[in-house]
Amino acid sequence: MSEQTIALVTGANKGIGYEIAAGLGALGWKVGVGARDQQRRDTAVEKLRAAGVDAFGVPLDVTDDASVSAAADLITEQAGGLDVLVNNAAITGSMPQTPTTVDPAIIRDVVETNVIGVIRVTNAMLPLLRRSASPRIVNMSSSVGSLTLQTTPGGETGPISAAYAPSKTFLNAITAQYVKELKELGDTKILINSGCPGFTATDLNGFRGIRTPQQGAAIAIHLATIPDDGPNGEFFDDAGIVPW
Ligand SMILES: NC(=O)c1ccc[n+]([C@@H]2O[C@H](COP(=O)([O-])OP(=O)(O)OC[C@H]3O[C@@H](n4cnc5c(N)ncnc54)[C@H](OP(=O)(O)O)[C@@H]3O)[C@@H](O)[C@H]2O)c1
Repeated sequence: MSEQTIALVTGANKGIGYEIAAGLGALGWKVGVGARDQQRRDTAVEKLRAAGVDAFGVPLDVTDDASVSAAADLITEQAGGLDVLVNNAAITGSMPQTPTTVDPAIIRDVVETNVIGVIRVTNAMLPLLRRSASPRIVNMSSSVGSLTLQTTPGGETGPISAAYAPSKTFLNAITAQYVKELKELGDTKILINSGCPGFTATDLNGFRGIRTPQQGAAIAIHLATIPDDGPNGEFFDDAGIVPW
């Protein structure tokens, strides 16, 4: 493993993912820009390189087994290993998503990307992460995935949603299960946490968010850089712990 820390950010061609890649690159890290569209990926890599980031493109569709497996091979070839995985890629699915009327196909698509996609990428990258001295996994979640907030009158719950918000609840639940299993397996070096970027102006919400993508990226950069005795299996935003 080289001295340089190596990260993969999924969905890094735009929005918060791009700014996570830029922020980790500014630390001197080598950053894999995971993106499914070649043109958008190349444009992002060029822009990052122009800003001085040691970036490389990683063709990656998180819903596709072959793509994810090829991404792990490419990272091994190009970087020789992986220290940090930021599972950032996600979709909201088309709206409305009211539970009484939702098209189940929307739920399937959202879960395929936001939950199964994370599991697929994580499991493909685990052999590489296990060889790192200080492996970290950051799962980009959302406070709308907090069941506590969703069931607390006055909580920050977002719109009624049968796909996107529950997909983030599911992702948080999966994060907890990874923590349990990795502990049982003795994989104690791997720290895995969920982060919420806050309501950020990106394509995801038609740029209605009130935070900049750079601000949204801050929690992922923080969780990617925690020390070996840092938190494990917790859920944070910039203000601190988010209830599950
Ligand atoms: N924005 C917010 O207010 C907010 C709030 C809470 C949580 N979050 C979370 O923060 C993360 C980043 O969101 P964002 O606001 O930056 O969204 P965004 O601008 O829509 O970016 C999403 C990224 O995910 C990629 N992606 C989607 N499906 C993919 C797939 N199958 N394979 C690979 N990449 C895929 C997109 O690529 P394409 O360009 O190819 O579509 C894009 O790069 C997400 O996990 C989101 O749920 C955002």
